Amino acid sequence: MSTVEKVLVTGAGGFIAGHLISQIHQRWGTAHIVALDRKPTNLWSQLHPYCSIVIEDLTSQSNRQIVEDFDVVFHLAADAGGMPFISTNNYNCMKDIASTQLIIDSALAGTIGKIVFTSSACVYPESRQGDSPTPLQELSALPAEPDSGYGWAKLYCERMGNYAKFESGIKFRSARLFNVYGTMCSTGEPREKAPAAIARKILHSQHLGLNSTTLLGTGKEVRSFLHVSDCTEGLLRLAEDSSNISAINFASLDCITVNELAEMIALICNYKGTFQFNSRHTGVSTRIPCIKLAKKALNWSPSKPLNDGLNELVSYIRSTIRNT
Ligand SMILES: NC(=O)c1ccc[n+]([C@@H]2O[C@H](COP(=O)([O-])OP(=O)(O)OC[C@H]3O[C@@H](n4cnc5c(N)ncnc54)[C@H](O)[C@@H]3O)[C@@H](O)[C@H]2O)c1
Repeated sequence: MSTVEKVLVTGAGGFIAGHLISQIHQRWGTAHIVALDRKPTNLWSQLHPYCSIVIEDLTSQSNRQIVEDFDVVFHLAADAGGMPFISTNNYNCMKDIASTQLIIDSALAGTIGKIVFTSSACVYPESRQGDSPTPLQELSALPAEPDSGYGWAKLYCERMGNYAKFESGIKFRSARLFNVYGTMCSTGEPREKAPAAIARKILHSQHLGLNSTTLLGTGKEVRSFLHVSDCTEGLLRLAEDSSNISAINFASLDCITVNELAEMIALICNYKGTFQFNSRHTGVSTRIPCIKLAKKALNWSPSKPLNDGLNELVSYIRSTIRNT
């Protein structure tokens, strides 16, 4: 890849972007990084002294000039969260289409070199994630049947970007992320994801001496969890890659039930209590990723063992509780 001089990271105040920006700085040392988010910096997950900061809402079409003139745009800005959030904010999630259109229009005007768009496992059809699940290869996203407005919006944005790519030659890549976890993530309802929510609830029960903890879902949902360092490595490799990938999965292949995840976290916390499940916000039942394309095209596979990542997460959640 030719030298990257100027990079835009949208959603820069969020969980994944905070980690991504550090990795961009390490990897592409001299690149000027512009970090954009709509929320004020006191709410950002991380602040990096080497970035220029822009506070803007990308859903406003008048903002076109602020996304112009970049070699690479990592487009992470989205209304995102765990099941409690996306299952009750379908319309808000779908409004994110406007910000992706803004970025694509800038690329069409010739002012962006490449777009790396963070899509999601939620684009895959619900029927492939039920009682007879099949590994989710990239091509199996169609025919479309996502289970949420969030998934429909991601799929629509992928499609928009691909049409612009095929018809006008822009470089648009979609990274389909499967359950990313790690330190500096959202904590507290409704946006926190399962690993953080489970750790927080277990630590809370432990603090109060409760011998039972109530978690969302049925406990039987099957998922895999990708450490944020593996995710950001995938995003960088996708940006550096010169082939013509449209969409690519980044996921861990270690599939476990939510109950098993809770037991792993309980062991790390030394919590001896039991779990009750409140079956609100369950999501699809069994999500099995396929990462053959990432292995073949980018020589990427996850390297962080789940137990190591969960140990870091528990320490982080413990520190957020201590500081409140
Ligand atoms: N975390 C995961 O497990 C996961 C899984 C699949 C996909 N993704 C995708 O990865 C991206 C980052 O996820 P995250 O977990 O870091 O989410 P996050 O909520 O921590 O970060 C998203 C950031 O985008 C900002 N934002 C939202 N709308 C905006 C707008 N219109 N203009 C400017 N900023 C805006 C938010 O303020 C927030 O800081 C998102 O696109 C998400 O959909 C995440």
